[in-house]
This record gives sequence, C-alpha cells and structure tokens, in this order.
Amino acid sequence: MAEAAELLDPAERLDAAALRALQLERLRASLRHAYENVPFYRESFDKAGVRPEDCRTLADLARFPFTTKADLRENYPYGMFAVPQERVRRIHASSGTTGRPTVVGYTDADLSMWADMVARSIRAAGGRPGDTVHVAYGYGLFTGGLGAHYGAERLGCTVVPASGGMTARQVQLIQDLKPGIIMVTPSYMLTLLDEFERQGVDPRGTSVRVGVFGAEPWTEEMRREIEERFAIDAVDIYGLSEVIGPGVAQECVETKDGLHIWEDHFFPEVVDPVTGEVLPEGEQGELVFTSLTKEAMPVVRYRTRDLTRLLPGTARVFRRMEKVTGRSDDMVILRGVNLFPTQIEEIVLRTPGVAPHFQLRLTREGRLDALTVRAEARPDADPGTREAAARAIATAVKDGIGVSVGVEIVDPESLERSVGKIRRIVDLQPR
Ligand code: DLL
Repeated sequence: MAEAAELLDPAERLDAAALRALQLERLRASLRHAYENVPFYRESFDKAGVRPEDCRTLADLARFPFTTKADLRENYPYGMFAVPQERVRRIHASSGTTGRPTVVGYTDADLSMWADMVARSIRAAGGRPGDTVHVAYGYGLFTGGLGAHYGAERLGCTVVPASGGMTARQVQLIQDLKPGIIMVTPSYMLTLLDEFERQGVDPRGTSVRVGVFGAEPWTEEMRREIEERFAIDAVDIYGLSEVIGPGVAQECVETKDGLHIWEDHFFPEVVDPVTGEVLPEGEQGELVFTSLTKEAMPVVRYRTRDLTRLLPGTARVFRRMEKVTGRSDDMVILRGVNLFPTQIEEIVLRTPGVAPHFQLRLTREGRLDALTVRAEARPDADPGTREAAARAIATAVKDGIGVSVGVEIVDPESLERSVGKIRRIVDLQPR
C-alpha cells in the first residue's frame, strides 16, 4: 500500500531524474560552502587536487577526499564549523567511547531541516498530526531525544518528552497519556517490556501502535519479538550526530523493507572499507554521507563505519539502505573469524527458553581470544531447557559463523538492562 500522495513532501513526490538534478545542484553548493568556509576542507581538497567546480556529475563526488571521525576529533571543538558562532543555535555531541567527544552544530535552518526530516520519518512510520508521541530517547547532548522531539512537534503531534530512565514512571505515563507512537532504542523497549510485566500490565493492551526504533543495530528477529510482545508495528530509524542526528533514513511502515535515505539532504555512497572504492548498488560496504544542505557543519564523504548496502527505492523514490548489521568498530575478530553482535542476536532470539537479553564477554585464555555468550533464561525455562539452549546457541554459532564460543545461560533479570544505547560487548581482555 503506497502512502497517499497528498501526505508526502514535495521532495518525496519528485521523480528520479528531478531528484538527481536537485542533488547535483545542492552537492555543488555544499562542496563550495565547505571549501570556502572550513580550512580543513580547503586543505584536504587542495591536497587531493580537486576543486568544488570539478564536481560536474554525482559520480564526480568519488574524486573528493573522505572525512573521518579522527578528522572531527582533531578539529575539536569548533574547527569544522562553516558559519560564525553567532549563527550556531545549538550544539550536540556524540558520546565517543574513547577520547574526545565530537561536537556538532546547527544553524536555525539546520534545526528546521532536521525537524522536517524527523517529521517525514515519523509520518513514514505511520504517525500522523494529532498523534501523541512518547519520546524515550535520552534528552541532552545525545541527538535522539531533542531530534525526535522537534520532529514530532513539526509533524503536529503531542510530544511526551519522557527521556530515558525512570522506567516505572514510563509505563505509568504510557498507560495514562495513551501515546500512539513510541520512539526509543530497541534495547530500552525490552527494558520497558520487563517493567510492564513486573507491574502486571499487558504490554499488548496499550494505546501504542507504532514503535520507531534506532540508535543501535537490531535484527529482524528483534523486530518480531517486539512486534509480538507489544502488538505494534516496529520500524527502523537511522541517523548519526555528524550528519544531523536521527532522521537520516527511515523505514516505511507499509513495506518494512529497509530504510529510505532522505537523499534530498544526505547523499549516500557505499564504499569498500579497505580500498575506499565506491561500490555498485547492492554490494555491502561502509556507508558514507555528504550533506547537501547543512550550513553550520557540512560533511563531505563522512565515513560512518556502519555496514550496509544501497538498494533501489520502493515506497519512496529515495534509495534504501539495508538495516545496518553493525559498525566496523563493533566487529569482534575471534581467532580470525569476524563476528558482529547482531549475528549473535539472531541466534539468541531464535533459541527457545532464552530471553532477548544477552552480552558478549571477551577474554583471553593463554594466548587465545575467547568469547562467552551470556544469555538470560526465560522465567519459565527449567534446567533441561537451559542446557539445551546453551548447546543450541553454541552449535548455531559454530555452524553459522564458524567459531567456537562459550555459552552461559544466566538467571532471569541478572544481566544489566539498557536505558539508551546498549553495550553488547564486555571486553575483559588484559591490555
Ligand atoms: O544514535 C542518532 C539516532 C538517535 C538515531 C535516535 C536513531 C534514533 P549517534 O549517537 O551519533 O547518533 O550514533 C550514531 O548509531 O553511526 C550507527 O552506528 C548507530 N545507529 C543509529 N541508528 C541506527 C540504526 C544517533 N537504526 C551511530 N541501526 C550510527 C543501526 C544505528 N545502527
């Protein structure tokens, strides 16, 4: 079922040729803006021997140098900004597990474009003006809370700015204020699920009809689990602070077939993570973004480290990205075998008797790296079921991924719960 055309933005109604023309015009202007106003880009373009005017077709973008997280760190805090400070209306920062955080800035126009993109995302997820939206992404320097908030307001929704944490109260608010939409990380949605059950409230009986889940990787198995346990539609929202925050790409509720990239503002490429070569549509690699309209902090070929593939549009003219399977940073190399937490998620969620809560513990035994999957038993699982589950997980990892891991089935409620982005890997290796 396609969305009624009158509900779409003008850009969502463009045909492919008009979209490409708009992108090229914006791309050229954005490269010029970056080159003229950010010393970093001037130097990096000069070093690569390219000028903004060398970009005559969209494919010419491949001649321009990449920008990495390290570049942003080296220019901390304001070195990547392209406008004078008095035009910067807001700052966000990405957590950064190591070292300095990355600071990003927005002009009034950037904030407005961002709100438009999140409004478009919520609408694609099935939200409508007049809906109540419960926002349980964290508010603060993280872009999740405020990003979702202003987008929902822009769409004409009533926003409940719950933020993360105080889980018991979240359940109360959901029952009392009757939101149709919830925006939260999938892992925190599972924490809410426990709380519903603890309070004896049927999670399938709430007013919520759609969940807009993102900020961390999650699998089709997790979608099924959440949809089933809450009786809602669960759709994926993607974004990153360096590009704007949430609302870079969104899955449409009517197709649930990957995320349409709002490529009238964010131009995607997928590149080989090692050689940097642009890959053809359909091939998996690292997602790279160039902003087309950002003022305060334009980004040129920003390496996200997120792994996905580009696919043609379906419910929208815009190209899709497949659900992100993981970040190159989250990849564990275990005795030469590459492994992503999402691969373990798929297996754990398929295994009878275990709850959707797990952790990966990395240790070293002598000279060998070892990984233990700790997964929680479902409350009704007897010792026999637990043993069978441990064997089933170990076998599925060995057969499917090709490496031996330890498996511990732990008691219900014994693993740490998420209040925002979950940390799956606990690295206990000596440094
Ligand atoms: O997580 C923005 C966001 C907030 C997106 C709320 C969606 C919802 P950062 O903190 O900068 O920004 O982290 C960005 O999170 O590069 C991905 O690795 C990961 N990520 C975000 N959304 C998804 C998703 C926000 N839907 C980093 N699937 C990104 C998988 C995601 N990974």
